[in-house]
Amino acid sequence: TQDTRTTLRTPIVAVLGHVDHGKTSLLDKIRGSAVSEGEAGAITQHIGATDIPLETISTMAGELVDPDDFDLPGLLFIDTPGHHSFSTLRARGGALADIAVLVVDVNDGFQPQTEEAIDILRRTGTPFVVAANKADTTPGWNPQEGEPIQRSLAAQSDRAESMLNENLYEIIGQLSDVGFSADLYWRVQDFQKNIGVVPVSAMTAEGIPDLLTVLMGLSQRFMREEMAIDVHGPGEGTVLEVKDERGFGATVDAVIYDGVLRNGDTVVIGGQNEPIVTEVRALLRPRPLAEIRTEKKFEKVAEVTAAAGVKIAAPDLDDAMAGAPIRVVRDRPVEDVVAEVKAELAEIEVETAEDGVVVKADTLGSLEAMADALRESEVPIMRAEVGDIAPRDVAIAETANQQEHKAILGFNVDVLANAKRELETADVTLYSNDVIYQLIENYETFVEERKR
Ligand code: GTP
Ligand code: MG
Repeated sequence: TQDTRTTLRTPIVAVLGHVDHGKTSLLDKIRGSAVSEGEAGAITQHIGATDIPLETISTMAGELVDPDDFDLPGLLFIDTPGHHSFSTLRARGGALADIAVLVVDVNDGFQPQTEEAIDILRRTGTPFVVAANKADTTPGWNPQEGEPIQRSLAAQSDRAESMLNENLYEIIGQLSDVGFSADLYWRVQDFQKNIGVVPVSAMTAEGIPDLLTVLMGLSQRFMREEMAIDVHGPGEGTVLEVKDERGFGATVDAVIYDGVLRNGDTVVIGGQNEPIVTEVRALLRPRPLAEIRTEKKFEKVAEVTAAAGVKIAAPDLDDAMAGAPIRVVRDRPVEDVVAEVKAELAEIEVETAEDGVVVKADTLGSLEAMADALRESEVPIMRAEVGDIAPRDVAIAETANQQEHKAILGFNVDVLANAKRELETADVTLYSNDVIYQLIENYETFVEERKR
């Protein structure tokens, strides 16, 4: 008998890369192109994500995509702001994203956050393609609005084409330097062995048909089994961000990657102390086609099915942690679900030592990445926590025995005003940076210099 409740879910595509390399512009352009193709209604805006159905992708990709070749429903794109660590995007101990687009500015090539993104993609084994963006900035470029890249290249002067190629091969070389064999995507036979590089422009939409085609192909080939979900099963998801929302209090922006989440469901969410057990009061989505980041008005929905981004309003969410799991209870003892969430959080628990540095990070995922990197550098950790730097952190850092451990390493976090004052007088040094390896390098340089 066929289980009709099991269907294929939308693959989750993370868009990541260095600040200003064009992640948001690329997504805006994909959305905008869909609108100009008359497919506006097909696109659903989610919290932090955009869902593009297969039909729309196929319209945009033109002859490159035949919808009959695919049985996935489309792609759910998640934008990650440059200052925000992609490592937030975790699910059940692995990566939340099924595949990723690494956006690299063709002129800038690899930058610190590109390297960091690559590290995380490698660690989580996430398949990815490289979007070599801003191809239109090549001197002498002759724009071919919305065309597949090869057709656009055919319209370029030899000089423009060779200038772009030079930049593309620079990126291919940089990928090879970090251990990934890569080539222009149309030369790649086996996307499991080689990374495809797709020249694109978020300004002119050139190459976007190609990018969508490669993404559909990647997900279809490698993801099919993981995409089979029980659409009526209890929802599972990940907290992206905890935000105060006028009229709702503390809310959680989440991505649901399995099952269904309904208004009124009892859910368990990983919190700063104990898991939070609460009841969903509202499920919110931005109004259709409004810009997510500036949109203030939400639409209430009765339920969401994976994969989807959604804002959850419920009591007691102040302590929810970015990167923590969300589980719908439904038909199960609540204690079992609490235990499940605890077990998942325990997996990420950082090993601490009697003497060591204090680590603060914006999300569980980035805290985990920091802890990994510090272990590799043999720097012990006395306390590791998600959240802004508070006076208590300063007090704890001061209790370290060794002078070099009297330090707070903050990743993507703010320093609370009263902690700032304490830091002025305390014998504690603060290191903060938005790139993990640079943060650790700064700390190590300081330790080395003290020894000399
Ligand atoms: P963060 O979210 O801050 O990390 O940046 P981002 O990667 O989302 O970059 P964003 O899309 O905000 O683009 C940064 C700047 O580059 C903007 O001024 C864009 O207009 C410009 N830009 C992005 N893509 C292109 C492109 O393909 N061509 C040209 N000419 N400019 C682009
Ligand atoms: Mg952006």
